[in-house]
Amino acid sequence: MQASATFPQEDPFALLLEDHAKQWELCGWLEKIADGLPNDVPRDLCALAAHSLRTDMPRHHREEEEGLFPLLIARAEDGDLADEIIAKLSEEHASDEGFAEELVDILEGLERGEPADNPDMLGYMLRGFFENYRRHIHWENTVLIPLARRRLTAADVREMLERMLRLRATVF
Ligand SMILES: [Fe+2]
Ligand SMILES: [Fe+2]
Repeated sequence: MQASATFPQEDPFALLLEDHAKQWELCGWLEKIADGLPNDVPRDLCALAAHSLRTDMPRHHREEEEGLFPLLIARAEDGDLADEIIAKLSEEHASDEGFAEELVDILEGLERGEPADNPDMLGYMLRGFFENYRRHIHWENTVLIPLARRRLTAADVREMLERMLRLRATVF
């Protein structure tokens, strides 16, 4: 049975795509914040973005790293370059999470109405972050997920869903 034949809440790929749509929205919030610097920062978006970076992003990364990547490596065929793809995506997760930690502190300050110490540098950081993250999401949607849909068996897909749901039950 193909994953697409199941209900959306039973399709782990649909859950990943749903997260990616939310992350795309997050990138839009970060762009609005960067555009508003230094004096017109939307404080409500700073709060939403900080929350998403602190909780949703690491949870989503663990779901991919523990729910999907090992299953895909086990099923990948010669020429898929799965090891290389997954190594690159994992590396990006680690660097984006490091970056996100710094951004969360700054966004929480902006939310409280504190001015940015160095608005030009912050704008540069925000743009670097959301531009990279949009590329990451696009890559996963167009390369990783289609490859995984082709390679994973129905039992793998069920296993992936179970792993993801277990992680969703964990507080981040
Ligand atoms: Fe990812
Ligand atoms: Fe992702």
